[in-house]
Amino acid sequence: MTTTSQIVLVTGANKGIGFEIARQIARKGGYHVLIGARDVERGKKAAATLTQEGLPVEFLQLDSNSDQSIAAAVEEVSTKFGRLDVLVNNAAVAFDSWDPAQGMPTREVFAKTFDTNTAGPALTTEAFIPLLSNALSGKPNIVFVSSDLGSAGSLADPEGRYKGMPLYFPAYRSSKTALNILALIFHSRFREKGWRVNIDNPGFTATDLNDQKGSGSIEDGAKNAVRLATLADDTRGTYSEKEGPIPW
Ligand SMILES: NC(=O)c1ccc[n+]([C@@H]2O[C@H](COP(=O)([O-])OP(=O)(O)OC[C@H]3O[C@@H](n4cnc5c(N)ncnc54)[C@H](OP(=O)(O)O)[C@@H]3O)[C@@H](O)[C@H]2O)c1
Repeated sequence: MTTTSQIVLVTGANKGIGFEIARQIARKGGYHVLIGARDVERGKKAAATLTQEGLPVEFLQLDSNSDQSIAAAVEEVSTKFGRLDVLVNNAAVAFDSWDPAQGMPTREVFAKTFDTNTAGPALTTEAFIPLLSNALSGKPNIVFVSSDLGSAGSLADPEGRYKGMPLYFPAYRSSKTALNILALIFHSRFREKGWRVNIDNPGFTATDLNDQKGSGSIEDGAKNAVRLATLADDTRGTYSEKEGPIPW
């Protein structure tokens, strides 16, 4: 398909913040958004909802735990578009979140969490580098949706934002700290070429990830990722939320 729209892939876009990121980017105009989802039925349903709103989106099967699925997604985007302009690595899990891992052994919690939240974005981004290299602007935007729970600086500072807060979610938090390092590795590899690699914290948002306990709206939760995904300036190598930068 020949299109002058920027081609955007949002992983884990069938619900939650990813779905809203896809919607807000598509609403801007000039973007064609691929709704990444591991489950075909859920992904098609989400894409159909946005199509019915008149938005330029389509479903793309992508399970970030599966190398085969990632390779097939790259092949499909390559055949259809020959490039990728924007990649939003959003998909994640939080097994040790509110339900204490549903009885899952701790080693399994760590293995599954790191596989999805850290290895998944690493392998997905690596696999899409040839297509990102063909971005129309020559400077693709790559967003890693992380969390302030991964902020090592905030945790190391006794007066930081976690002061007095319980230290829940060790697997989830450390998977996001690792994700931040991973994002910086991609940033360092491609900064000379002007690629815009940035890290987002959506803030505490009501989604299934936290059994809808989040205090913020999904619209607000998507905002900073959308800003970073649609940057036209040279902002890169940042870790931020909608209110501003976050300590590393
Ligand atoms: N909600 C918050 O308060 C909050 C705060 C800070 C950061 N975040 C981050 O924001 C992002 C979105 O989270 P959310 O709150 O919107 O969670 P969510 O509602 O649970 O959505 C997570 C999405 O990721 C998908 N996913 C999980 N594993 C996947 C895999 N292996 N391959 C592909 N997709 C997969 C899920 O698909 P299925 O439907 O198939 O499970 C779902 O679409 C995550 O990176 C999360 O860490 C959230």
